[in-house]
Amino acid sequence: MTHPCEHVLFVDDDADVREAAQQTLELADIPVECFDKPEKALERIANGWPGILVTDIRMPKMTGMELLHRTVEMDAEMPVILVTGHGDVATAVKAMRSGAFDFIEKPFAPDYFVDIVRRACAHRRLQSENRALKAELARHLPASNGLIGRTPAMERLRSLIGNIAPTNAHVLINGETGAGKEVVARTLHDMSGRTGPFVAINCGAVPENLIESELFGHEAGAFTGADRKRIGKFEFADKGTVFLDEIESMPLSLQIRLLRVLQERALERLGSNTVQPIDLRVVAATKVDLREAATRGEFREDLYYRLNVVQLHIPPLRERKDDIPLLFQHFLKQAEDRFGRSFAPLNADELAKFTSYDWPGNVRELRNAAERRVLGLESLAGDTAGTTDPTLPLPRQVEAFEKNLICEALRKHGGNVTATVATLAVPRKTFYDKLAKYEISPADFRNRTDAD
Ligand SMILES: Nc1ncnc2c1ncn2[C@@H]1O[C@H](COP(=O)(O)OP(=O)(O)OP(=O)(O)O)[C@@H](O)[C@H]1O
Ligand SMILES: [Mg+2]
Repeated sequence: MTHPCEHVLFVDDDADVREAAQQTLELADIPVECFDKPEKALERIANGWPGILVTDIRMPKMTGMELLHRTVEMDAEMPVILVTGHGDVATAVKAMRSGAFDFIEKPFAPDYFVDIVRRACAHRRLQSENRALKAELARHLPASNGLIGRTPAMERLRSLIGNIAPTNAHVLINGETGAGKEVVARTLHDMSGRTGPFVAINCGAVPENLIESELFGHEAGAFTGADRKRIGKFEFADKGTVFLDEIESMPLSLQIRLLRVLQERALERLGSNTVQPIDLRVVAATKVDLREAATRGEFREDLYYRLNVVQLHIPPLRERKDDIPLLFQHFLKQAEDRFGRSFAPLNADELAKFTSYDWPGNVRELRNAAERRVLGLESLAGDTAGTTDPTLPLPRQVEAFEKNLICEALRKHGGNVTATVATLAVPRKTFYDKLAKYEISPADFRNRTDAD
């Protein structure tokens, strides 16, 4: 079947010329529709003609030049071929200047005619395929619910992500707490075309004695307490993306095992003596300078180089303050949906306060500020913790209360997790679950220089 772009509209007032053109094109397997009046062709074009236009110039009511102009107004990309009288160079030049694709002199040899038409059709098809590709890309680029930001720094980051996502290169993401490392990792995966899942692991949150089996899995009986076989996170992420957050906290003994998996593209469960092939793409994130850590011997240098094929740096929010209004509006909207209450639009005072603030907790802190504002609490960190709003449904009040408690405890202990867990007297796992639920990062509470 012919591609829709490879269809021709042919306009000429001379019945003999129309018939000849029709025959020539049909013999060449190019579908054609002929018209004796430009007006009729225009009607066709106005309704969206996917193909190309070939028109005679000299016609009684509307000339071919006029038809060209009106066509270009409606569809600037449509290739138009004009048929000029023999030796009419002046008109041909004018036509080309007005945006014609090409011209052909009468009388023309059929082969030559078919050739020009084919070129125009191919051009049209290429344009249409390009457009489709762009639209497809735009669909994959998370617009509103993914990576938000219109500052040059964010645009650059987005375009880098677009370029490296479809490659299988490992990526190292660097950025301060709450800057959006996980959002970027997810975006990389979503745009990668990889068929497996996105699996996130926080290397700092899993106790050291469990992390090995968590990552590599184990066979039944591999160690005391391993009564059943277990698939590890790596195996689970086969053909997908594994996101290794806080990679700097991965124990050295595991780093070497990870390196082996990446080098050999194979994995061995604990207690197993068979190796299985695995296709992993690693996106690792760190808040520290990993190269420095490697120099100090705290991180394996060989693993560093293996992971650092591409490095993405996410600038802190204070370096892209022009994104604050856009982000804040987005989070207000989200909070509004979540808490089922509406918010007053931002006023100039607030905006000024927000842009002069440094946002040590970056986008996450901004998001928390938006939530607090919707809940009727003071929005900026450092403001008093506030109480919960009695008009909210009970579960929401409880959540707000619990979140406040956790933040208070973290503040008291300067972000020290062990001390906070002890104070709150909850299991570590529960604590980390709560941190994830409320999007709290202990790092936000460490070494605060803007102390209250
Ligand atoms: N550019 C962005 N557009 C929209 N939301 C963002 C953006 N950056 C971050 N966020 C949101 O801010 C919060 C923190 O982002 P994320 O978890 O990706 O940060 P992080 O760098 O991984 O933080 P941490 O270092 O604490 O692990 C999340 O709720 C995330 O959805
Ligand atoms: Mg993170």
